[in-house]
Amino acid sequence: MINSMMNGMNLDAMEKSEQTTEPKQLKIYYAPMEGITGVHFRRVAHKHFPYVDKYYAPFVQPNQKKVFTPKEKRDILPENNDGIPLVPQVLTCAADGFIRAGKALEEYGYKEINLNLGCPSGTVVSKGKGAGMLEDPEKLDRFLDAVFAHDWRADISIKTRLGYDETSDFQELLHVFHKYPISELIIHARYRTDYYKGVPRMAEFEQALREYAGDIQADKMIQGKHETSVHNALSDGCGKTSLCYNGNIYTTEDYDRICQMYCRDYSGADRILLSVMIGRGLLANPALAREIRGGAPLVKEELQAFHDDIFAMYSGMDLGEKNTLFKMKELWNYWGTIFEDADKELKNVRKANRFSEYKPAVVNLFRNRELTDRRAYDI
Ligand SMILES: Cc1cc2nc3c(=O)[nH]c(=O)nc-3n(C[C@H](O)[C@H](O)[C@H](O)COP(=O)(O)O)c2cc1C
Repeated sequence: MINSMMNGMNLDAMEKSEQTTEPKQLKIYYAPMEGITGVHFRRVAHKHFPYVDKYYAPFVQPNQKKVFTPKEKRDILPENNDGIPLVPQVLTCAADGFIRAGKALEEYGYKEINLNLGCPSGTVVSKGKGAGMLEDPEKLDRFLDAVFAHDWRADISIKTRLGYDETSDFQELLHVFHKYPISELIIHARYRTDYYKGVPRMAEFEQALREYAGDIQADKMIQGKHETSVHNALSDGCGKTSLCYNGNIYTTEDYDRICQMYCRDYSGADRILLSVMIGRGLLANPALAREIRGGAPLVKEELQAFHDDIFAMYSGMDLGEKNTLFKMKELWNYWGTIFEDADKELKNVRKANRFSEYKPAVVNLFRNRELTDRRAYDI
């Protein structure tokens, strides 16, 4: 994975990482994953592994009739997320929809609201939402202009990709983003057309950092302040946006690599990147954030206790055996990757159609198979 993450990364950056002193820690965010990391899962995950700095909720989609569906409302109601540092996310291409949802979320007390510009799904993109908004930077500019014309008590952050496809110009998008007081720009280092496949495009991500830093510097020069340090420019309020990296962080080493590479900017000043967002890595290894912070590696018994609580929670929801098992098997797509040589045992888990088949299959897996040393989501 480490090698694969470094594909496309230029030597300049690699040399820099070797020269540098101890990098600073980056904040760790739990990525939103629609259909998986909803309120019920999130509560159990946070109880067992409370090591991430923030959770981003899967998107809500405001429409003409309703700001939130009952299910969306349940997911984001503060009383259902007590003690969880949650950031709700909105998916829409209509500025008034974003504003209505954003205002309702402010009323709930949220201090940050995230805009989804990354969802690659065909049905979303065909309506011009999610990563579909990256296809037309001028339209995106108009959308953001309307959104930021409002007074916001909450911070507005954005989760984006590098662009729609390889012909996209990320610099153009960055120029648009840079016009607005976005609190944090979370960059998933892929194009829409990459979906979640393959190796993140580190060279392009790095270029984005350079251009972003350059943008801020250029701005300062125009204002007649000839700072040489991007850090100064960032910290005195010209560039209000901090950056977050997202994509294929599956192990402590993957995190360390990102930290080494990007914790500092390209003029030698301290860090332009403040955080990382992790999705599949945390699903597969729920203790990954603890490990990154120097804590103990995940042990099998912890995963089993976590599994048992998740299973008890879903089975208590009256979803029916089939739907409950569907949800559990979705999680096994991730947990299954951190077991050593467990194909046979996992097959039994996957083919279980009744609780009476599922439970012994899971017990058998935990009893007879060990976790891999890497405990990394690997497919
Ligand atoms: C099943 C699934 C559902 C997702 N749902 C959302 C979502 O609701 N909002 C969003 O911004 N990203 C969503 N994503 C993208 C993730 O937040 C994240 O960007 C992606 O998994 C890459 O990060 P990773 O390599 O750490 O997993 C989803 C990804 C997956 C696999």
